[in-house]
Amino acid sequence: MTNTSFPALQNDLILRAARGEKTERAPVWVMRQAGRYLPEFREVSAEHDFFSICRTPELATKVTLQPIDRYDGLLDASIIFSDILVIPQALGMDVQMIPGKGPHFPEPLVQPSDMSRLREKVDVHEELQYVFDAITMTRHALEGRVPLIGFVGSPWTLMAYMIEGGGSKTLSKAKSWLFMYPAESQQLLQRITDVCVDFLVGQVHAGAQLLQVFDSWGGELGPADFEKFSRPYLQQIATRVKARLGPEAAVPIIIFAKGSWYALDSLSESGYDVVSVDWTFDPALAKAITQGRVTLQGNLDPNVLLGGDKAIVAETEKMIRAFGSTGKYIANLGHGILPGVPVDAMGLFLKTVHRVGREVAAE
Ligand code: CP3
Repeated sequence: MTNTSFPALQNDLILRAARGEKTERAPVWVMRQAGRYLPEFREVSAEHDFFSICRTPELATKVTLQPIDRYDGLLDASIIFSDILVIPQALGMDVQMIPGKGPHFPEPLVQPSDMSRLREKVDVHEELQYVFDAITMTRHALEGRVPLIGFVGSPWTLMAYMIEGGGSKTLSKAKSWLFMYPAESQQLLQRITDVCVDFLVGQVHAGAQLLQVFDSWGGELGPADFEKFSRPYLQQIATRVKARLGPEAAVPIIIFAKGSWYALDSLSESGYDVVSVDWTFDPALAKAITQGRVTLQGNLDPNVLLGGDKAIVAETEKMIRAFGSTGKYIANLGHGILPGVPVDAMGLFLKTVHRVGREVAAE
């Protein structure tokens, strides 16, 4: 499959906003936009298990395009269908996706000596070529309609999954590692970081035009622990990926550190172009802290899309007006879209972003 001569891009709104340019309206996409709230996704996932979809470029391409086709002209970016847990798999861990329950690691890391079970050197082209192929195929299938986003999980969030073995309310196992084995934890974080860097560089070479790092569990750490165990690795990812790509091939990078409100200032100095914030952030405060150093992304509470048309319009309008007046803004939810959201509620959200975004930009 070739990654040269992709179809010309027709909508570069999100790339311009990510680079800090003022845009004629705020671009919009939605975390987990290809997912279970879409009946066409549920059809595919009834036939194929989750990681088979990820590993089959034709299926990953099909599912990535579903929201782009359904909400024709309303989404300003696509995100490759995959999962953050493909990196633990590349490191040699078994990860299953249990329908209705979520990820499950039959043999999580229990103590530092278990790190010897991890693959010493990960060749991303050997372990994760299927993601690169899916990206290249999707770039062609998009026919330049919107840019394609590639992504990884953050080192801390991936470490937490590898130790917890799945979801967790308290993250006690992963967090007790940080306190009991700080040096070994940092070794593990560094090993994951190295794979993240290679993986993101490979995604850009395969055709990704924007990247996002998901630190979904960043906010489980207090400020001092985030500064010790998460942010330095996030910074390494952004700076090393950009250095490896060089100025010609560099693409904008987004950081989403859910709940890490205390780190908004430091994340604005960590090599990222865009900082994505969840719904607990006050837009005015986020703007005051970041002072235009980065583009902001976010931050509607995903539950608003379950709250009926009136609330969707009112809350979206409030959000766009609060963030959008000076540009440097990408509209999104504050976390992934929930499986129970009606497809028309998502449509109304997108249409409202377009309408209010245009009004605000013209004011
Ligand atoms: O549309 C997109 O955003 C692209 C695809 C995407 C998925 N996962 C597909 C998926 C992306 C970007 C992810 C990232 C991801 N995966 C994160 C970070 C984002 C976040 O929500 O914080 C995390 C923590 C994971 C790990 C993961 N994958 C969990 C915890 C779960 C189960 C919970 C859930 O939402 O179902 C998954 C499964 C998963 N990943 C599904 C999808 C569409 C649901 C699969 C199904 O049940 O059919």
